[in-house]
Amino acid sequence: MFDHLQRLPVLFFFLLLSLSFSESLHENKESDTPISRFQQYLRINTAHPNPNYTTAINYLTNFANSIPNLHSKVIHLTPTSPLLLLTWPGSNPSLPSILFNSHLDSVPAEPDKWIHPPFSAHKTSDGRIFARGAQDDKCIGMQYLEAIKAIQTSDSKFVPLRNVHILYVPEEEVGGFDGMGKFVQLKEFEELNLGFMMDEGQASPNDEFRVFYADRTPWHTVIKAVGTPGHGSKLYDNTAMENLMKSMEVITKFRESMFDMVKAGLAANSEVISVNPVFLNAGTPSPTGFMMNMQPSEAEAGFDIRMPPTADPELMRKIIEEQWAPAWRNMTYKVNVAFLYAY
Ligand SMILES: *[C@@H]1O[C@H](CO)[C@@H](O)[C@H](O)[C@H]1NC(C)=O
Ligand SMILES: *[C@@H]1O[C@H](CO)[C@@H](O)[C@H](O)[C@H]1NC(C)=O
Repeated sequence: MFDHLQRLPVLFFFLLLSLSFSESLHENKESDTPISRFQQYLRINTAHPNPNYTTAINYLTNFANSIPNLHSKVIHLTPTSPLLLLTWPGSNPSLPSILFNSHLDSVPAEPDKWIHPPFSAHKTSDGRIFARGAQDDKCIGMQYLEAIKAIQTSDSKFVPLRNVHILYVPEEEVGGFDGMGKFVQLKEFEELNLGFMMDEGQASPNDEFRVFYADRTPWHTVIKAVGTPGHGSKLYDNTAMENLMKSMEVITKFRESMFDMVKAGLAANSEVISVNPVFLNAGTPSPTGFMMNMQPSEAEAGFDIRMPPTADPELMRKIIEEQWAPAWRNMTYKVNVAFLYAY
């Protein structure tokens, strides 16, 4: 045992040497490895506002065609929004199928704020790759393909029991309306006969992956108060500002009660209703900003509310209607429940 331990460093040294040697060989050959394939995918600019879907789909289709038994199909949801569907047929295709989803597009990049150009997929000597969309979520789309390739390489006779589908959707980052939103209405979606679906999750720096099976629904909510306008020097009741500020106090208390549960360790962030003010809109504009001696007749505030699946939507609506924007305080509200929305 002791003898073995003593020899280990030598062995380790040789391993290191051979590793770095093969690494440099690979670099020289511009080799075709999972990393280089990932880099090539990252170099295709699919960031908004002009995602190059055609090039990305061509690239993925070519890669998929190099893997046995994968069938590909492109569906145009709009003339400029194509989707790529890959299918790995199962031995019993009548069973409900499995879908692995990812999206082609990414949020915009501001190149001048990047250490390496966002579409260079530059790899540093310590193995980090810099690219817009690397985590969200091109790594996932590539891992699906690499995993299927690896399974088939290790066992060329392997056939999944069920049909396995891999989907690359456009427009996820802008709400999914011309992406998944349109696809789920097509007969092609129904024909998939899905039993289980996996979508993007969170990036992990190691081999541990967190799986989650629920998400919160965004309620984009605007409350508005109206009241008699008046001079800034005058004290009187029920101005728009006063009514809105009363609501802000109530909402702040609600927010604190939720956050307190998280701080006390009683609930996870994702388990409480989060309410964050995102805009305030009031005041009478003047050439230098706002009139400082005018009490305005209208005031509104916007909130990003996130509802966990366990929260009661009816109760929340009641709270908004009765406490946050009560009609008797001359307030109105609008809730925009965004089912398909980019996070
Ligand atoms: C997409 O990328 C390809 C290859 O780089 C390029 O030829 C094409 O013009 C691009 N299309 C758009 C719409 O930018
Ligand atoms: C609501 O508006 C009405 C009509 O302008 C007004 O008489 C009343 O005082 C207002 N109430 C509140 C609470 O602002």
